[in-house]
Amino acid sequence: MPEHTPDVAPAMPSGPRRFDGRVVVVTGAGGGIGRAVAARFAGEGARVVVNDIDGARAAFVADGINGTGGTAIAVPADVAVAEEVDRLFAVTSDELGDVDVLINNAAATDVSRHFLDGDEEWWDHVLTANLKSMYLCADRAARIMARRRGGAIVGSSSGGATRAHRGNAAYDAAKGGVEALTRALALDLAPYGIRVNAVSPGAIDVAPAGSGSDAERVKRGASIPLARLGVPADLVAAYAFLASSDADYITGVVLPVDGGMLAQQRSAEVDIFGLDKFPGIERPRSN
Ligand SMILES: NC(=O)c1ccc[n+]([C@@H]2O[C@H](COP(=O)([O-])OP(=O)(O)OC[C@H]3O[C@@H](n4cnc5c(N)ncnc54)[C@H](O)[C@@H]3O)[C@@H](O)[C@H]2O)c1
Repeated sequence: MPEHTPDVAPAMPSGPRRFDGRVVVVTGAGGGIGRAVAARFAGEGARVVVNDIDGARAAFVADGINGTGGTAIAVPADVAVAEEVDRLFAVTSDELGDVDVLINNAAATDVSRHFLDGDEEWWDHVLTANLKSMYLCADRAARIMARRRGGAIVGSSSGGATRAHRGNAAYDAAKGGVEALTRALALDLAPYGIRVNAVSPGAIDVAPAGSGSDAERVKRGASIPLARLGVPADLVAAYAFLASSDADYITGVVLPVDGGMLAQQRSAEVDIFGLDKFPGIERPRSN
């Protein structure tokens, strides 16, 4: 399996450089997936805006990219607040130029509550951080991209948009909105040469390398068809592909990168046709 992504992946990989000189804004890039995605774009030659609500995390990631030969600036901003989003794109234009690619990745992720324990404040917070933020960033980016007749927007959805997580009604509703908005924006923005897609990560282990319990990882991985949790490194190629000219004829889609989770009805542990009936397979592989 791929290595757990280091805190900041190298900015100079030996692969393609599809984004040479392009300006790529990654929201929530101080966290596990966004951080790896930012490093991937930098590694393909992009000039990356590392946004996060947590300025120290954003600075850490930007420093890591700059320290490995890439180009990045940190722009702390709460992407759920209109004025802060205005500032994010103004700083981007002033310091690096107009945005070519927007990765709408920021989300409030630690927001589980049983529906009966929820309240309006919880609902508003999750919907604002996880869906209105997408509207605000896409709006500002699309106005710039439309003027220039081109650009790509890639969002971060979740399997929760399609199959619910227990105790995550607000999060799942927001992610359902992310997918509907992805399709709606794809139609409204296609005439301006702007493509809009999303990645739907599965169960991705974003704990720092060396932390967390291996037994827990193996247990959670056992219910996934590919028999392991994902790591941020599993996702970065999908974001880069959807944003790149390799995907010039793709818009309005949600690409699951989830080890087969959305494809499955029941996990192998409880399936009627269990793995014990598979020729030559005794039990799920573990990490
Ligand atoms: N990790 C998973 O298993 C998983 C699964 C499905 C979907 N996702 C989605 O992928 C994306 C990244 O998830 P992650 O696991 O890396 O999450 P994470 O919580 O590790 O990172 C999210 C980052 O976004 C930042 N953020 C939160 N609110 C913000 C705001 N208002 N403005 C700016 N920054 C803000 C946080 O500070 C954090 O650094 C999210 O959209 C999440 O919903 C993750």
